[in-house]
Amino acid sequence: MEPASKQAHLDQIAAQVGACRRCALHQTRTQGVPGSGPASARIMAIGEAPGEREDREGQPFVGQAGRLLTQLLEEVGLSRDDIFITNVLKSRPPGNRDPLPEEVAACAGYLDEQMAVIQPQVILLLGRHALQRMLPDAPGISRCHGQVLGAGSRTYMPCYHPAAALYQSSLLPTLREDFRHLREHLDRAARPAQGSAAAAPSAPSGRAEQLDLF
Ligand code: URA
Repeated sequence: MEPASKQAHLDQIAAQVGACRRCALHQTRTQGVPGSGPASARIMAIGEAPGEREDREGQPFVGQAGRLLTQLLEEVGLSRDDIFITNVLKSRPPGNRDPLPEEVAACAGYLDEQMAVIQPQVILLLGRHALQRMLPDAPGISRCHGQVLGAGSRTYMPCYHPAAALYQSSLLPTLREDFRHLREHLDRAARPAQGSAAAAPSAPSGRAEQLDLF
């Protein structure tokens, strides 16, 4: 797909999210938060759901957790502007409660379509809700964070949600380590395969780190 048509497709999904009434959250939200970032992003980050500030501004990760996410990315030389950031839910649950299964199901088509359009090299799963949504058979976040996991044609890296590290600062070094790991993975995947002049497009995950679940 051409970049312009990818962008048009993402815009179309965003418009659908804006008008969405597939679950009861449309009654309590201020607006939908479809996600933001370039259609050409190599990295996609998936969080849980918009919070109060995201609901007000219509943008993902613009509160405290978002500031930490931006900082963690910058510490490993990545710019937030190069990443497509979204959530499992596109509407804020009242009081920031956990997403309900029917809300996750109602939003599933939007997230699936965003991934299909962007086809990122790696998908960062921020927290247990994103992990559960994308890799329901994976072990819990405390066991699989920082690992590069291949499932079908996609490559994922789960990590703790930045908000978890705000509540529990002892998680911060682990989160930093996982972001370093993400960077190493990207660097490895960008390097030409040994013994070959060409990059290895069939090894999006940097083979050595890949753990195939399916
Ligand atoms: N937490 C999330 O999971 N998503 C946001 O957009 C903001 C905070």
